[in-house]
Amino acid sequence: MSDALDRMLGLAREALEHAHAPYSRFRVGACVRAATGRLYAGCNVENTSYPVAQCAEASAIGAMVTGGDRTIAEVVLVTERAEPCSPCGRCRQQLAEFGAAETPIHLCGPEGLRQTVTLGHLLPVAFALPSTEGER
Ligand code: THU
Repeated sequence: MSDALDRMLGLAREALEHAHAPYSRFRVGACVRAATGRLYAGCNVENTSYPVAQCAEASAIGAMVTGGDRTIAEVVLVTERAEPCSPCGRCRQQLAEFGAAETPIHLCGPEGLRQTVTLGHLLPVAFALPSTEGER
């Protein structure tokens, strides 16, 4: 595993430890590497009104945008489930806002990397408004 990936995994694991998931008991940690090289982590944040939950990817993307970055180069996702867990549909669309078809998404467990997929694989023929292309 590369140094960058190792650092991302560490940050995602740390974020998972901070997850607020008392309802699902399913903790998720994410880390995105921006094109600038900066790393941003996030965890899932649930709510007593269940549909209000925020996914870990959304938290990490929010931190990235707040930090002034706009392009996702790589993503690490960590869960404690036995098999690889990939981003939900909403997160795929949110990742597509700032990533590209070839952007790698590393699906990890606490022990490390399990599977790498691309955003294009997870969300082929992604929706985009022609009028907003190139405006971000
Ligand atoms: N969750 C994420 O954080 N990311 C995903 O891509 C899928 C689901 C969270 C939302 C909720 O807090 C818990 O996992 C169970 O669905």
